Amino acid sequence: MTASGAQPVADSARLEERVAELLSTMTLTEKIGQMSQVNAAENYVTDWLRADIQSGRIGAILNQVDVDVVNEIQRIAVEESRLGIPLLIGRDVIHGFKTVLPIPLGQAASWNPELVRAGAAVAAREAAACGINWTFAPMLDISRDPRWGRIAESLGEDPFLSSCLGAAMVRGFQGVSLDQPDTIAACGKHFAGYGAAESGRDYATTNIPENELRNNYLVPFHSAVNAGVTSLMTSFSDLDGIPASANEFLLRRILRCEWQFDGFVVSDWDSVRQLQIHGLTDNDKESAYQAVNAGVDMEMAGDSYRNYIESLVEQGRLSIDLIDMAVGNILRIKFRLGLFDNPYTDASMFPPPGDPEALALAREFSLQSVVLLKNDNRVLPLQIEKINSLAVIGPLANAPYEQLGTWIFDGDESFSITGVDAIRELAGDRLNIEYHQALETSRSKSTESFDEVIDVVERCDASVLFLGEESILSGEAHCRADIDLPGAQADLVARLRRTGKPLIAVVLAGRPLTLTNIVDQVDALLMAWHPGTMGGPAIADLLFGVHSPSGKLPASFPRHVGQIPIHYNQKNTGKPPSHQSIVHIDDIDAEAPQTSLGMTAFHLDTGYKPLWPFGYGLSYAHFRYSNLRCSAKEIHDGEVLEVFADLTNDGEVPADEVAQLYVRDLVGSVTRPVRELKNFKRVTVQPGETITLRFELPANALAFYGRNQELQIEPGEFHVWVGGSSEAELQSSFRLVSDS
Ligand code: NOJ
Repeated sequence: MTASGAQPVADSARLEERVAELLSTMTLTEKIGQMSQVNAAENYVTDWLRADIQSGRIGAILNQVDVDVVNEIQRIAVEESRLGIPLLIGRDVIHGFKTVLPIPLGQAASWNPELVRAGAAVAAREAAACGINWTFAPMLDISRDPRWGRIAESLGEDPFLSSCLGAAMVRGFQGVSLDQPDTIAACGKHFAGYGAAESGRDYATTNIPENELRNNYLVPFHSAVNAGVTSLMTSFSDLDGIPASANEFLLRRILRCEWQFDGFVVSDWDSVRQLQIHGLTDNDKESAYQAVNAGVDMEMAGDSYRNYIESLVEQGRLSIDLIDMAVGNILRIKFRLGLFDNPYTDASMFPPPGDPEALALAREFSLQSVVLLKNDNRVLPLQIEKINSLAVIGPLANAPYEQLGTWIFDGDESFSITGVDAIRELAGDRLNIEYHQALETSRSKSTESFDEVIDVVERCDASVLFLGEESILSGEAHCRADIDLPGAQADLVARLRRTGKPLIAVVLAGRPLTLTNIVDQVDALLMAWHPGTMGGPAIADLLFGVHSPSGKLPASFPRHVGQIPIHYNQKNTGKPPSHQSIVHIDDIDAEAPQTSLGMTAFHLDTGYKPLWPFGYGLSYAHFRYSNLRCSAKEIHDGEVLEVFADLTNDGEVPADEVAQLYVRDLVGSVTRPVRELKNFKRVTVQPGETITLRFELPANALAFYGRNQELQIEPGEFHVWVGGSSEAELQSSFRLVSDS
């Protein structure tokens, strides 16, 4: 049922009829209006906005979050425009709304699709209460480059993990039925290849060979389309010489012909007019022509459609059929959203922002997203009965805004509970807590306070250092060439190391950082990303062992920035590196003769491994994998192989583990990655317990795009691994037999 009590438009034939009926009554001006989205951020209805809505020249707005203004805007559209077509109200609801969840990269570290779904559902509900009916999320760009600021918004480096979590996010935003009052339309972005920006510089060119595009970068988008995502946004970037907003191959051949997508495509902000800046066109009219022709149904925040489509149609350059197709795609989603039945929002139907359910979910999400990267001598969890005092140090220990991360326009920092507050709350009067900020911001270079900080650390039994990056150092257009801890933070760690006191680092950041220069100086290290509103209590629970860390890395952590792009699912090459084959720069004799014999694909100064690989994460429990077996030695097309492994918790505490299944296709018509994630499971295991993991591996999950760029299954031998990271050692094998 819709909010107004009307039946949803369930029947797709009836829906298509309604779209066609409406289209047949529309003037060209009204059609162009539906294809135009404008920025309307003022907290009242401006005269120009009112006039343009009344004359049917606008079909969607973005950035209006005042529910009364939104309702008034909808009223003008419905009551004062000729056809009464309601508007799409778009907003970047990226990781929560008022209640902020971990950044998407942190969400991905939970490896928990159900939590991702539930988080998006809470965000949708809070946003819908303000009249928003369309979010620009999930971001589905595969990223292998932590210099790129938008890796924070991504679900990491892996196509399978990003697909599972991206589809879960779509389901969370859109719910079981889009016309419910608490669901909103999702938008998969940025189609496509944006995450491969050269040198991690946002907006920079991408060059991705078609086979790589299909086997990696497009996979999460296809999965989102299959999950029913209503819209996609084009990328700002240039893909192989054709900017995405004019890329017919992406938008028509792949999206419409191959995937049968029936939602609509929106440009990114002014990216149609930017076609001229790219050097693809020499004026806005030509840009509008190329974008419409390629399949961009709606222009965001530019005016090239509004100014030029009419004359392009009159001149016969754009056919009215093409325009009708674009408008139909948009109207179809407006019908599915139930907007024609009720475009209004009754804010009193929604719980207040930051309600206990939302906060509890945010806390659980932060908890599951934190990754334990190091824990020497089991310094963690801190045992409250064995220490008297704890130093809490660092620029991010008490930073309610910074812990929220990038893209949180509507996030309410007054709900944030910081690390130091949560530690104080948890410890009560059982511990003496001493707090020192040490550095004004994560970028501060002044070491002025370090002597004071050393005194604090020396007085205490242990220290927790909240280090990392402020939220402004990641996100759109916030890329870094150097991804070490900024400012004087590494100096601080080195100075505190000399005290000999136990040091626990908690890193809050929007990306994987190169932590090589601090990793040996601290006893334990927790990667908390930007954990959101409830980051503090989650981190405190982990520090004191109320729960065990269970997050796993969704992206590799390089040792050195020079290793980037870095990802576990590389190709083998003709000279694959191994531990034995690497030579260190310091071990080369002076005037050593040039030789490449026996040499492999590694760097002389950093080898070939990341500091921590994809899928990695420690626990307070101790997990042991054994007894890997497959249900058959061979599988045929259409069959499902079952893969079993035993997982034992040899530790002393119950904990969650994310068990991962990887395969390698040994021989292919195009070369295949050394490992590919094909399944995973988050399970809880009690101390002393052994459980049997059962994974399904359908034969079609082994398909890939081959030489002719078609999805195919190729027979042959596969290796399979099950374990706690992409470096899992427990291995078996099977054969795929093709009947065709
Ligand atoms: C530009 C960003 O690239 C995109 O992700 C975002 O959704 C739009 N601006 C709207 O704010």
